[in-house]
Amino acid sequence: MKHDDIATQLLGWYDAHARVLPWRTSPSDRVRGVIPDPYRVWMSEIMLQQTTVAAVKSYFERFTTLWPTVIDLANAEDETVMGEWAGLGYYARARNLLKCARVIRDKYKGEFPRTRAELQSLPGVGPYTSAAIASIAFDQSETVVDGNVERVVSRLFRVETPLPSAKPELTELADTLTPKERPGDHAQAMMDLGATICTPKFPTCALCPLMDDCEAREAGDAARFPLKTPKKPKPTRHGHAYIGRTSRGEWVLEKRPERGLLGGMLGWPGTEWQEEHPKEAPFEGNWIELGEVRHTFTHFHLILTVHAAKDVTNPPEGLALRGQNAFRASDLPTVMRKAFDLAHQSLED
Ligand code: ADE
Repeated sequence: MKHDDIATQLLGWYDAHARVLPWRTSPSDRVRGVIPDPYRVWMSEIMLQQTTVAAVKSYFERFTTLWPTVIDLANAEDETVMGEWAGLGYYARARNLLKCARVIRDKYKGEFPRTRAELQSLPGVGPYTSAAIASIAFDQSETVVDGNVERVVSRLFRVETPLPSAKPELTELADTLTPKERPGDHAQAMMDLGATICTPKFPTCALCPLMDDCEAREAGDAARFPLKTPKKPKPTRHGHAYIGRTSRGEWVLEKRPERGLLGGMLGWPGTEWQEEHPKEAPFEGNWIELGEVRHTFTHFHLILTVHAAKDVTNPPEGLALRGQNAFRASDLPTVMRKAFDLAHQSLED
């Protein structure tokens, strides 16, 4: 089938089966002239990077309720936004989210720019996100390639090159499918097809609107694609975290440096995380070792030994002391939250 016809077939399927998502303007609303809000499109695309739709939904609802416009978000306190992002991971996204909102407020009078080049000049907006916003919010004929799209395209054309080297080839092939009409719906249709039918392990080819065009389906080996170059195994690092309370009941936290892992987030003071690390309390207390928590980051596994003390008398300058009323465990990134969950019974008032 011609590539134009593939796009038409896919759009027909999307009209009937589009997922209902809180950031999405449905195809039927679009036909009635409802225009997507670029703020919501941008927010969702940032949140959906490396993160599942299921995990994003509640964060998206909460952010857009707290801050209904980009100006509201730009005017928010850094710490509030970082706290609300806690648990979603990849915290550089939250720092860039705020930076970007402030650029939109200060340089663009609160209106998102429309061209891909201008969009890509914004903090945290790379080639993927600029294409997604240009196409979904502004219906420009740009090609959006995420993991779902890579899978769909690698099967349709039975691409034998493994990822990640296959990326340019897959992008080029995806580009041949992008229609001039409704490119935003096309982008979302590709994603939905990848998420619901053309799934990684057990694709339901019998339900696929592109079954007659798919080379891998024809060959009967769709699940083999996309091929992937094996990844190096992740190393394991070790560290110690120290969860202290002062005699006045304040929690002894630290704000992590802006740059680097969990940058800008609150956390428990502790040692570096390395292949080997001896325990070394950052300040005095009657430390009791409670056990270990495990967490996996992009490039390593972490085993963190958790210590607790209730009698910290002299926390050093520069730490963040929080009274019980000013402390919310939900403001902590997941690994720090796991450490808290292990310690909090020993530290209750
Ligand atoms: N994943 C990334 N962006 C998406 C979107 N707009 N809709 C559904 N899934 C997505």
